[in-house]
Amino acid sequence: MKNSLSRFLIASSLMLGSTLALADRIGMPGNMPKSFTAECASCHTAYAPGLLPTKSWQGVMNSLDKHYGTDASIDAKSLAEISAWLQVNAASSRKFAEAPPDNRITGSDWFARKHGEIKKDVWLRASVKSKSNCIACHQQANKGDFDDDSVKIPK
Ligand code: HEC
Ligand code: HEC
Repeated sequence: MKNSLSRFLIASSLMLGSTLALADRIGMPGNMPKSFTAECASCHTAYAPGLLPTKSWQGVMNSLDKHYGTDASIDAKSLAEISAWLQVNAASSRKFAEAPPDNRITGSDWFARKHGEIKKDVWLRASVKSKSNCIACHQQANKGDFDDDSVKIPK
């Protein structure tokens, strides 16, 4: 695993150059509003703004009352605060620039590529439940860190 991974990384860095550095440490911008943790990380991972482009975040924030089968509406002040922060910090690298279907990070082509080796039954495990549950496997996902050092697929 380690060896094939490093060969892959070397090959990709030759192809992608500096964009590779952005691949695993997207990061969580330091000026994160408290409302983001309170309102957007209570049901799931605190998704780093850099995982989706501006257009997708607008789509998410403009339809919170119909949020993937649930109502995630918030007060006007939090809405404005979180939206502004997401806009400023939305994906800047070409890698994450694609606006995926349903504004889902998990609907992106890069997501499918990076997780292509994970078998269907793994996603269905009680400990994982959903592709959207990043933190089940990426222990530092709430910090926007997807480095392979902090990945552990739960049993
Ligand atoms: C009441 C619970 C709840 C709250 C609050 C909530 N969400 Fe969600 N969110 C969900 C559910 C449920 C899903 C779908 C998860 C799945 O398919 O497994 C989801 C999915 C998402 C996705 C797509 C994940 C993917 O599959 O790529 C994004 C992006 C997202 N939420 C952003 C936000 C943001 C931003 C906020 C705060 C404004 C927020 N959510 C607040 C319940 C919530
Ligand atoms: C079932 C476990 C699991 C879940 C859930 C999961 N991932 Fe992953 N992810 C992995 C594994 C395993 C890898 C490959 C790690 C490696 O490079 O060896 C990976 C790779 C990645 C990479 C590429 C890292 C790199 O080094 O290039 C990113 C970015 C990423 N995942 C983001 C996410 C996001 C965002 C979510 C949630 C929306 C998520 N993952 C959900 C297991 C998971």
